[in-house]
Amino acid sequence: MGQPVALVTGAARGIGAATARLLAESGYAVAVGYHADRAAAEEVVDGLAGSGIAVRADVGSEDDVVRMFADVDDRLGPLSALVNNAGVLEGGGRVERIDGARLRRVLDANVVGPFLCSREAVRRMSTAHGGGGGAIVNVSSAASRLGSAGEYVDYAASKGALDTLTTGLSLEVAAEGIRVNAVRPGFIETGIHARGGDPDRLARLTPAIPLGRPGRPSEVAEAVLWLLSDRASYVTGSFIDIAGGR
Ligand SMILES: NC(=O)c1ccc[n+]([C@@H]2O[C@H](COP(=O)([O-])OP(=O)(O)OC[C@H]3O[C@@H](n4cnc5c(N)ncnc54)[C@H](OP(=O)(O)O)[C@@H]3O)[C@@H](O)[C@H]2O)c1
Repeated sequence: MGQPVALVTGAARGIGAATARLLAESGYAVAVGYHADRAAAEEVVDGLAGSGIAVRADVGSEDDVVRMFADVDDRLGPLSALVNNAGVLEGGGRVERIDGARLRRVLDANVVGPFLCSREAVRRMSTAHGGGGGAIVNVSSAASRLGSAGEYVDYAASKGALDTLTTGLSLEVAAEGIRVNAVRPGFIETGIHARGGDPDRLARLTPAIPLGRPGRPSEVAEAVLWLLSDRASYVTGSFIDIAGGR
């Protein structure tokens, strides 16, 4: 069997970059998905222990997603692992302050993106389409359980939709050689909080974390690696909470 091929969306930084690095260390050829920051994606690729490429797509754009998967086919070969990691949040919004444009931005990146990427992955991996099987991991959030009142209920709801995609798709493709699972991180040390307009968020909220500290991107990556691997061969439709006890 050739080298397994993984695509990680949103892998130019944060949890996605840590996951790409760990997958490469573990023997995958990795496609590092990015949206805007090509230089950051190339830097991740250059630092991989194994082979990898940078591939661009706005995951909310169907044309971009179709092109990105074709790019992976051409340059790395048949895909066996997809990590739907790309995601955005916008802070400071009680529901009565959220407008339609913001809702569409959040839902496009966090829901439409994983749906489109999962569709392309299933078309390639499913034994019903002549594929060799594979695994998908969705990077959801503890927010889907907790609701994120006063911060970003839209983001939490988008992750609720991702959880439902995980359950439904896992059942749809279980007999076709594909496992579908999710991780639900809590507060993880990445730039997403500052980009969402609240750079001090983790420091402020640390006292509410039972384990007493925020998580590291590498701690999420470990769970993603396990869920993708044959060690999790009897695990599908499952959720791993990586939230320090929250
Ligand atoms: N950090 C946390 O505390 C936390 C907690 C729970 C869940 N999560 C989830 O974990 C995932 C990764 O978050 P992170 O903290 O690592 O965030 P991050 O550092 O902000 O990275 C997000 C990545 O997503 C990419 N991205 C955003 N919108 C995109 C789009 N429309 N198309 C393609 N790529 C897009 C960005 O690409 P560019 O840089 O190229 O624009 C970036 O690489 C997200 O789904 C997030 O919701 C994070």
